Amino acid sequence: MSKRNVEGGIEELNGICDAAIDKLPSKEMGGEAVHRAVEAVRASFSGKSFQDCMDEEMSIFLDLLSTSKQGNARRHAFFAERVATSPPPGVPKVDVRGSNKVGVIGAGTMGSGIATCFLRAGYEVTLVDVKEEGLKRGEGILKRNIEQDVKRGRATKEKAEGNLSRLSTSTSLQALNESDIVIEAVFENMDLKKRIFKEVSGEGCEARKCEKRDETKRIKNPYYEDNIRCQT
Ligand SMILES: NC(=O)c1ccc[n+]([C@@H]2O[C@H](COP(=O)([O-])OP(=O)(O)OC[C@H]3O[C@@H](n4cnc5c(N)ncnc54)[C@H](O)[C@@H]3O)[C@@H](O)[C@H]2O)c1
Repeated sequence: MSKRNVEGGIEELNGICDAAIDKLPSKEMGGEAVHRAVEAVRASFSGKSFQDCMDEEMSIFLDLLSTSKQGNARRHAFFAERVATSPPPGVPKVDVRGSNKVGVIGAGTMGSGIATCFLRAGYEVTLVDVKEEGLKRGEGILKRNIEQDVKRGRATKEKAEGNLSRLSTSTSLQALNESDIVIEAVFENMDLKKRIFKEVSGEGCEARKCEKRDETKRIKNPYYEDNIRCQT
């Protein structure tokens, strides 16, 4: 709502509210609270006393607080997002800021997207897939993503080329030997995921890391149930 003086009386005020409503998301698409807010604004020029208008606003607020499923969902999402930034109990928080080399296992939809994000952020990325064709497909997705950055003006051509130059690919997990962190994005198959975690935390990759960093410890990952080795 603008703060300008309104000379046209209640009709113009209602017109301003109608115009505001046109710009709001529909009630069904998450706009329930903002529509009710306009209702409270309309009450302010309905001829009621100031206190009655304040009471009406409070009543709308309390009604939304107790009955609105959208409000409930927003509060849930707010607290869920805060919880999601901390690892589950027993899993130490990993600070990736000191890492330069990232390994991504699985070059499908998720893996190529994750690899794109790390390349954009300046990391060296090794993308591993069990199949040569999977790797080619993932590389194709990733290159298109980075090329789109130039077309949409998010990156210069030089920056995009620089990002792509930090990508290497392999069909062998051994290529992850030098990775500071490894992210798994293979098929949704728990046995396969467990096998990969064991392989990555075994002699091949993690052993190299242990040589470089004295402090490693075995942790219990509640999601995968197996003990995996993890840096602290
Ligand atoms: N696609 C989504 O929108 C989405 C969203 C959230 C979570 N996820 C989860 O992310 C994970 C990956 O999903 P996706 O959609 O990217 O799958 P996808 O099928 O697109 O890709 C999986 C890739 O993993 C590769 N792979 C299989 N076994 C492998 C192995 N042993 N070593 C290396 N690579 C191997 C496959 O060749 C394939 O390229 C799944 O756990 C999925 O549930 C996916």
